Amino acid sequence: MDTNVLRISNTVQWIGVLDKAIRTFDIIMETQYGTTYNSYFINADKKAVVEVVKEQFFQVFEAKLRQVCNPKELAYIFINHTEPDHSGGLKKLLEIAPFATVVASNSAIMNLKEQLNIPFPYIIAQDGYITDLGNKKIATISAPNLHWPDSIYSYLQEDKILFSCDSFGAHFCHESMYNDQVGNYDAAFLYYFDVILKPFSKFFLKAIDKISSLPIDAICTGHGPLLTSNPMEIVKKTKKMCEEYLNNYPKKNRILIAYVSAYGFTKKIAEKLKEGVEKIPNVTVDICDIEKMDFETLGEKIALADAYLLGTPTINQNMLPQLYYAFALMTPLREKGKLAAAFGAYGWSGEAKQCLITNIDNLKLNRYCDSMFIKFAPSQAEVDNIIKFGENFAKAAIISK
Ligand code: FEO
Repeated sequence: MDTNVLRISNTVQWIGVLDKAIRTFDIIMETQYGTTYNSYFINADKKAVVEVVKEQFFQVFEAKLRQVCNPKELAYIFINHTEPDHSGGLKKLLEIAPFATVVASNSAIMNLKEQLNIPFPYIIAQDGYITDLGNKKIATISAPNLHWPDSIYSYLQEDKILFSCDSFGAHFCHESMYNDQVGNYDAAFLYYFDVILKPFSKFFLKAIDKISSLPIDAICTGHGPLLTSNPMEIVKKTKKMCEEYLNNYPKKNRILIAYVSAYGFTKKIAEKLKEGVEKIPNVTVDICDIEKMDFETLGEKIALADAYLLGTPTINQNMLPQLYYAFALMTPLREKGKLAAAFGAYGWSGEAKQCLITNIDNLKLNRYCDSMFIKFAPSQAEVDNIIKFGENFAKAAIISK
């Protein structure tokens, strides 16, 4: 069993765990380099832990924790984000740390109540809240939407250490852990940024702005190497990537037409919708058959679009699975209010229409007043209607922005 505990400063130790074997994260993200679930012990007058670990790794974590303290001595547990790869072990930790108070954002506490289903002592830490550990202080820095609304950073002032959870992290597993000892992990870092944080670049820049004037000797992330060597280099690099992403964001209104087609009828509707959309100036359209599209590409297209035309035939009284994937890649936080309409061809009763509409509504997209469904192949009169539909949808997309 891995028993490694690593020094970050005189006060802080890494007590996280390695997950070398994981190859898929959150079902949709490849993790070819494995990952780590980072947790930290702060040996102040009042002892604290920052982040826990995925529940299935709790035993390894507990053994490490017991190397550095008696868990009953823990006064605080900081939870910077409540995705269960960080908070999954919290319930078990509270069982062995009965005097610990959980410190987290308001939305994190709400999530934890639902995750733990037990009463527990907590403090809702707003931006600037100071947790007094006696000889040390931890400041809470609000950093929402990185990549959940609950995210915060914790900053150990005296040691100049920032605990950043998913921010600046990577799914990368190397036993050496320190960023100047693990070799080049750029590919893992960039992929992690692209998939998890890039769509939230606007929020990331706000968070970076808040920490840019702080003295920072180390950044303790939630995953991957410990940024003990030149941590601000990664911050600067991240800032540049966020700015590039936002600057490259086309200024025009972007409409994504994403569809799958069984016999070419839905494809024809998609192409005619495109014709209609293109009649409207200052609109860019991205049309794609998503049947074989990988998650990363589809996720990027979804994040970049301002409005969606989503099409599928009805097969087995259902929409096709690629559309379920597309909806799974949408986040209500980012996509809420974007205009969306459903289209497709059908042969019998056309249940896909309701499937699309239900998902559009569930994700709180702004459902367009109409949809475009055609029985089998569109006639010439129907083609004209489809083109008009596309044109009107594009006009509405501009107005709704
Ligand atoms: Fe590493 Fe968003 O959890």
